[in-house]
Amino acid sequence: MSTSTVGVIGLGYVGLPLAVAFAQEGCEVVAVDTDPRKIEAIEAGDSYIEDVSSEALTEVSARIHATTRYARLERADAVLVCVPTPLSRNREPDLGPLIEATRALSEVLQADQLVVLESTTFPGTTRERVAPLLEESGLAAGRDFHLAFSPERVDPGRTDFTLRNTPKVLGGLTDACADRAEALYGLVCETIVRVSSPEAAELTKLLENIFRSVNIALVNELAMLTDRMGIDVWEVVDAAATKPYGFMRFEPGPGMGGHCLPVDPFYLTWRAREFDIATEFIELAGKVNQQMPYHCVAKTQRALNEAGLSVKGARIAILGVSYKPGVGDIRESPALKIIGLLREMGAELLYHDPHVASLAEYSLTSTPLEEALTNADLTVIVTAHPGVDHDLVARRAPLVVDLRGVTSASGSANVVRL
Ligand SMILES: NC(=O)c1ccc[n+]([C@@H]2O[C@H](COP(=O)([O-])OP(=O)(O)OC[C@H]3O[C@@H](n4cnc5c(N)ncnc54)[C@H](O)[C@@H]3O)[C@@H](O)[C@H]2O)c1
Repeated sequence: MSTSTVGVIGLGYVGLPLAVAFAQEGCEVVAVDTDPRKIEAIEAGDSYIEDVSSEALTEVSARIHATTRYARLERADAVLVCVPTPLSRNREPDLGPLIEATRALSEVLQADQLVVLESTTFPGTTRERVAPLLEESGLAAGRDFHLAFSPERVDPGRTDFTLRNTPKVLGGLTDACADRAEALYGLVCETIVRVSSPEAAELTKLLENIFRSVNIALVNELAMLTDRMGIDVWEVVDAAATKPYGFMRFEPGPGMGGHCLPVDPFYLTWRAREFDIATEFIELAGKVNQQMPYHCVAKTQRALNEAGLSVKGARIAILGVSYKPGVGDIRESPALKIIGLLREMGAELLYHDPHVASLAEYSLTSTPLEEALTNADLTVIVTAHPGVDHDLVARRAPLVVDLRGVTSASGSANVVRL
């Protein structure tokens, strides 16, 4: 198969790196997004995703045709769908963007095209939701056009595992669909892992995310217990991680953030209800992880109290507000919850984050590190970005609450660790 033109719908954390990877392999890429600002940025060679440098984007810009117009997808051999799959206000799957994108695609769908859904979703989405909508085109899935699911596994900010060397799981509606998808992804991925169906591929992605969510909840629960017991949770995790088999290290912290872990597991919970199964591990993990910002605020309050201060009127600096190190993504970041809770209690907040210039919703802009440390009564390390010297933070700030275990264990008296 020669896939010379690849369409990508949804140019965010998942879609833009994919578009660039295919363009780097010499494919023409039709890149569609409903957000005209993204189209303008791509046309200007101005990347808004950390994992894609503006230089890399500019190098392939002649081959990336960014547009808001779905009609341009008519000439694509394959179309990858990478739109958001969020939760609704009552925490149910919100397939709105996916349905909208699929409907728009069905209007321009061509015989023999391959369509691959990459967005994380519950088992059955590709076959039961996407296929019927695409078939409104008059073409039959698996016969007139090919359809597959292949979950994106990108870990934003990570450089050792990228799209190229992270095995790519995929499941086709038919064997021929999987063959087409395998040939396509073989252009940009070293290893392809074929599973028997789109459902198996959909559930694989959810298992991976649920596995992380449950294990993070387990160490977080332990952190709340060790706090009462007067044991250092980091010391215990470090020691357990010396076991060469049967243990996998997970870090406690202020709670889960990002687009994936706080959201995806509940796609399965929702679907499981149809089968009279209550997915209790998922619910419990969500509950424990949601408790963590409250636990961290209580810990901050106690640290201030020990120093003879109250939260009300205290100046508190938050170090790192994105949800993970090395990226500027603040979606569902526990730092925002912590800022909100401390503000409600009357604290005056400031923050430093090299990746997040401002928090418009909180009317805050990032304060230079030195200034933040010296101007605050207490500094809370919420996200430990690479390049920030946390031992220096511990030396300069009058009082530190370290929620990431990044200050020395033997640290000074002014440091309280989670
Ligand atoms: N971010 C991650 O680390 C990650 C990792 C693996 C999987 N995923 C999954 O991939 C999917 C996309 O996530 P993301 O982080 O890239 O989201 P994102 O919000 O960064 O990007 C999604 C893009 O889709 C666009 N969009 C929305 N509706 C559209 C429509 N109808 N037509 C065209 N474009 C539309 C948005 O404007 C946005 O640019 C989600 O299902 C997510 O769960 C994300």
